[in-house]
Amino acid sequence: MKYTSLGKTGLGVSNLSLGTMAFGRWIDEKASIEILDAALDAGINVIDTANFYGKGQDESFKYGTGESEEIIGRNLKGRRDKVVLATKVGLPMGQDINDFGLSRFHIMREVEGSLKRLQTDYIDLYQVHRFDNETPLEETLSALSDLVKQGKVRYIGCSNYAAWQMAKAGGISNLLGLESFVSSQSQYNLLSRELENEVVPFCLSESMGLLVYSPMARGMLSGKYKSRHELPEDSRAARGEQLIQNYFTDENFERVEQYKKLAEEHDVNLSQFSLSWILNQPAVTSAIVGASKLHHVTDAVQISDWAWTQELQKQVASI
Ligand SMILES: NC(=O)c1ccc[n+]([C@@H]2O[C@H](COP(=O)([O-])OP(=O)(O)OC[C@H]3O[C@@H](n4cnc5c(N)ncnc54)[C@H](OP(=O)(O)O)[C@@H]3O)[C@@H](O)[C@H]2O)c1
Repeated sequence: MKYTSLGKTGLGVSNLSLGTMAFGRWIDEKASIEILDAALDAGINVIDTANFYGKGQDESFKYGTGESEEIIGRNLKGRRDKVVLATKVGLPMGQDINDFGLSRFHIMREVEGSLKRLQTDYIDLYQVHRFDNETPLEETLSALSDLVKQGKVRYIGCSNYAAWQMAKAGGISNLLGLESFVSSQSQYNLLSRELENEVVPFCLSESMGLLVYSPMARGMLSGKYKSRHELPEDSRAARGEQLIQNYFTDENFERVEQYKKLAEEHDVNLSQFSLSWILNQPAVTSAIVGASKLHHVTDAVQISDWAWTQELQKQVASI
C-alpha cells in the first residue's frame, strides 16, 4: 500500500480508500465487516461514508437512514485511532425544510447524529456532500470551523464542487480566517473525465487533496455489463441503481471492450487496470473503492502499487 499526505495537510492517507455506500444498503452487516476487516488488514486507512448512506436511499422517500455509519461505528472498536474516518453532510435526512443542505442548523444537528452512529467523539474528515445554493458559504464555513474548534472535526473537505465553488470557498476562508477545505471528493474514471477541465488543475494549483469516487464507473469498468439489457444478478444495476444507467451508452460499451483488451495484454483484469489508471493521474490522492464483495478489496489492493507506464498512458489516450 502506498501512502501520501492529504493535500497540504500532514495527514497520511492510503492511495486506496474504502467506500461504504453499499454497507447496510446492498449488503448486510456480516458481509460489510468482512470487507472492512480485509481493507484495514491490507493497510487501507481511509474509510469513506456519509450520513445519507443506507437503505433509505432506495426507498420511495429517498432520505438517509444512517445504516452505513452505524455498521462502521459498531465494528471499528479498538481500531478507531488508526483510521482516517471520513463522512459527509448535506443530502436529505428527512422531509422537513431543515433536513438537508449546509445551514448551520443542519450541520450542527447532523454532526451529532454522525458521531453517535459512528460511536466516536471526532470525525477526521467532514465533507460537505454537494454545493448548497441556498446557504451562504460564509455560514457553512463558519459552522464547520466551529466544529473544528470544538474538536468534533479535524479537517474539512468538499464533494462534487465545481472549481469556481472551491475557489470562492477558499477566498472566504482566507478572508474571514475560517477553516479551509483540504480535499475535494469527485467522480473520476476512464469513462468520465470532465474533472480534468477545471477541478484537476485547481487541485494541483492549490495543493488540494483529490479523493476520487466511482473509480470503476460504478462497476461499468469491471466489464461485468455486456449491454444495457444484460444485467448480471447480484450487480448494482440489477438491484436498481439509477446512476449507473448514465454509463450505459454504446460508445462506453465499445470503449470498455478496448480497455479490456489492453488490460489482458498486461495480465491484469479490467477492474485493476481501471484502478491503476486513476491512481496514476496527476492530482489524485486516493481512489475510493466501492466494494460490495470481498474480492473487490483484494483485487484493488493487489494493484495499488502496480507500475503504470508512459507507454500505457499513450495507449489509453488513443482509445
Ligand atoms: N461524494 C459523492 O457524491 C459520492 C458518490 C458516489 C460514491 N461515493 C463514495 O465513493 C465510493 C465508491 O463509489 P462507487 O461505489 O461508485 O465506486 P466504484 O469503485 O466505481 O464502483 C464499485 C462497484 O464496482 C464493482 N466492482 C468493484 N470492484 C470490482 C471487481 N474487482 N470486480 C468486479 N466488480 C467490481 C462492484 O459492483 P457490484 O456491487 O455491482 O458487484 C462495486 O459495487 C462509495 O462507496 C462512496 O463511499 C461518493
